[in-house]
Amino acid sequence: MSSGLQIRDLTLRIGGTPIVSGISFDVPSGQITGLAGESGSGKTMTGLSICGLQPKGAERGGTVEFAGRNLIGLSERAMNAHRGTDIAMIFQDPTASLHPMLRIEHQLTDHLRFHERMTRQAARSRAIDLLASLHVPEPAAALRKYPHEFSGGQLQRIAIAIAMICRPQVLIADEPTTALDVTVQAGILRLLRELCDEYGLAILLVSHDLGVMSAVADSLIVMRRGEVVESGTCHQVITDPKEPYTRSLIDSLPAAAPTRVATTTGLESL
Ligand SMILES: Nc1ncnc2c1ncn2[C@@H]1O[C@H](COP(=O)(O)OP(=O)(O)O)[C@@H](O)[C@H]1O
Ligand SMILES: [Mg+2]
Repeated sequence: MSSGLQIRDLTLRIGGTPIVSGISFDVPSGQITGLAGESGSGKTMTGLSICGLQPKGAERGGTVEFAGRNLIGLSERAMNAHRGTDIAMIFQDPTASLHPMLRIEHQLTDHLRFHERMTRQAARSRAIDLLASLHVPEPAAALRKYPHEFSGGQLQRIAIAIAMICRPQVLIADEPTTALDVTVQAGILRLLRELCDEYGLAILLVSHDLGVMSAVADSLIVMRRGEVVESGTCHQVITDPKEPYTRSLIDSLPAAAPTRVATTTGLESL
């Protein structure tokens, strides 16, 4: 079992401007690590930098340790081998990870068939099992559909399935529920919790919304202007923030924030 990611002194400069300024934190397996902060604080750039997906020409520094290896400085080819198979990413817009003109089956089984050399039947069977475990209704029928045939929430489940098909150890989820309405949002957060608890997945959950964090995150890192200003257990940071900046983020929460999802797995569908 991997111990997730250890990030030390991560920096990112774009055109000489510091975007991420020497941040350090762990993303342990079996836990949801929340990365919060106002818009523009560097959350997305941190997630992309970890995966080697930072903008072209940007300079990275520091270390991102995965399974005893520093991912920073790996060749593009070596990083490609990790991306998807060991470390996967999902985004606010699930269509970012989907091809609009290909059936879900193709998108889910492509890697298994051509990289893991599974037969079509075996890959299909793995895809159906996975969709079922992610509470996608009628998984066999879902495989025959195109992305536009699903609602936003179902599409995010399918993007999560594509991320999970190669059984990665780390999932970086960048604002995965921001575009969804509140009840659908709760279902996706519950799903992330289940993946963590059942597969020991290490999740880095990026969100500007501390309501989302209080619903599922185990620990919380708060960023401002490319720096970590506060970190600790999620409960500790939210109930007893040390920094006025964190306090202001909490105070800006609407009264009806999502309630904490169960941490024991029920597997019931929302
Ligand atoms: N492609 C880019 N080139 C230059 N600067 C960028 C680029 N993308 C984002 N930035 C800048 O990086 C900073 C952090 O952005 P981002 O990580 O997207 O913030 P967050 O996800 O916390 O809202 C912002 O100041 C933003 O303007
Ligand atoms: Mg962002």
